[in-house]
Amino acid sequence: MLAPTSEVSFEEEDLLALGQHSLGLFPDMVDELESSTSIDLDFRREGTLVVAVDRDDAEALEHLHNYHRRLGLPVERLVGDAARQLEPGLSPNIHYALFSPQDLQVDPVALVKALAGAAENAGAAIHPNRPVEAVRVGDAGVEGVVTADGDFCEFDHILIAAGPWSPKLKGLPRGALPHIRPVRGQMICVELGEPPLIEHVIRGPDAYLVPKSDGRLLIGATMEERGFDPRLTAGGIFDILEGAWEIVPGIYDAHVIDMWTGFRPLTLANKPVIGPSTIDGLYLAVGHGRNGILFTASTAYGLAELIDTGELPDYLHPFQLRELR
Ligand code: GLY
Repeated sequence: MLAPTSEVSFEEEDLLALGQHSLGLFPDMVDELESSTSIDLDFRREGTLVVAVDRDDAEALEHLHNYHRRLGLPVERLVGDAARQLEPGLSPNIHYALFSPQDLQVDPVALVKALAGAAENAGAAIHPNRPVEAVRVGDAGVEGVVTADGDFCEFDHILIAAGPWSPKLKGLPRGALPHIRPVRGQMICVELGEPPLIEHVIRGPDAYLVPKSDGRLLIGATMEERGFDPRLTAGGIFDILEGAWEIVPGIYDAHVIDMWTGFRPLTLANKPVIGPSTIDGLYLAVGHGRNGILFTASTAYGLAELIDTGELPDYLHPFQLRELR
């Protein structure tokens, strides 16, 4: 989901600004990646619906909508049957929704493949399945990395972008990284059906539903503090299915395709760190939380500019290590 508007939280306006900036870079980035690799990124522009399933949710959404208005965000309030006219598969219990037409979506797996492919087409060498175990730092800054098979590779610039696994890298002095922990998300994928059960991304209080053009419907996601335990649980899947069924009852008969868990990298301040570190030649792109895909464009272009020119773009200033301390 590329949804800075519908996912905005109170008092997180710097994250909203970064999300809007990154979303603005997406259309050109998608064009460039698709033409470099011929991979279809399923970049969709139907917008996102946030729905209330009971009166309490409706009150909370009304409160959020007042905040949207104060920020001048383009969000439409849909009451009565209005949301069902847009999305007929919604439960008849839904009488209040917010529609963000400018929020988009992309296929995250295809995006990562296309980024790797386009990087290779542009001359990058990619070493899959060759994990880095340690960063070597000398008096003058970074020297290189040591791989798990014991090789030393020399580099002038090293960017740490290892998600929740970033703190496992050895060799970094204390305090070089912010505190980062894995927050587990469980997801289930079912058949979207024909005609499709839904066409928009829909968020409810306990689940979200994301329709894909290849006939899949993704339903997520739990937020769980279970360390790196990758196992699915009956309760986690039950909770998201129940949350999704309350919004779109038709999923009851949908055939299950797959289920999985993933780990989001969260910092204590719920903000990413994107920029230089305290060590010469070492850069950070860590702690992107629930927004790793949305922040991809600003992170990539911003860090490329920093490493190329030595100048940190303005939009990354709020996301520096010192801001978290
Ligand atoms: N970005 C969706 C999630 O973290 O669940």
